[in-house]
Amino acid sequence: MMSIQLFAGHGKKRGRIIVPPAYAKTVKWLPQIGDIFPNFEATTTEGPLRFFDWAEGHWSFLFSHPAAFTPVCTTEMIALVAAKEDFAQRNVKLLGISGSSVKDQQAWHDDISDKFGFEIEFPTIDDQDGVLSAVFGMIHGKESSIWPIRKSIILDPQMRVRMIFEYPIYVGRSTDEVLRAIDSMQLIDKLDVATPADWQPGEEYLCSEKHCIVDDETFGMRLKRLTPYLALIRPDDEKPEQGN
Ligand code: BEZ
Repeated sequence: MMSIQLFAGHGKKRGRIIVPPAYAKTVKWLPQIGDIFPNFEATTTEGPLRFFDWAEGHWSFLFSHPAAFTPVCTTEMIALVAAKEDFAQRNVKLLGISGSSVKDQQAWHDDISDKFGFEIEFPTIDDQDGVLSAVFGMIHGKESSIWPIRKSIILDPQMRVRMIFEYPIYVGRSTDEVLRAIDSMQLIDKLDVATPADWQPGEEYLCSEKHCIVDDETFGMRLKRLTPYLALIRPDDEKPEQGN
């Protein structure tokens, strides 16, 4: 691995990005589904963090939000803390990226604990200078020239980007949707299937293109073929393993 400053924040000290040599300095890289995420170092509310060391072997929910002491961000933090057991059951670690300093974020976390009784027990990065946010495509200048947008990146335990979604500053994210998407990806990884629109855990899923076309036998009586290109699979009674 080599350590270079990618595209943003030349001359700035925080947010050293460590990328594979294949990410040439002249290429404007933005995370895409399927990429191995670059390693990076950051200052967080829980001290210095080296991403691969922190994330390895777990799913990661990496999310940017604009700033401490703001209303939508406060509700998102509370919603994430309220779902901490749901994330733990799925082997998911949480890492925030904020446009506020560690000091301001810690004061805000204390205030959330005092006023609402929710303890924030995961690290959030101080990205005041916007170096990491810029590299990860979290600065959308037309939405805000100051704050990062609400961008979420879900990574699997191999550090591969599996899902990306972007919300504007005034729309809070749905924690239920994050969990649902993780359930879907973990099921897909385990059974080589697909999940339909509005799927919820425990509901029928779809055979993947591969199974649909060549192999009706795989799922036996649990498979209900609707068209040559669409077949439903009734879930097995066995609860799928989570957090693979
Ligand atoms: C909010 O989280 O509500 C917010 C964040 C940045 C600017 C304005 C509002």
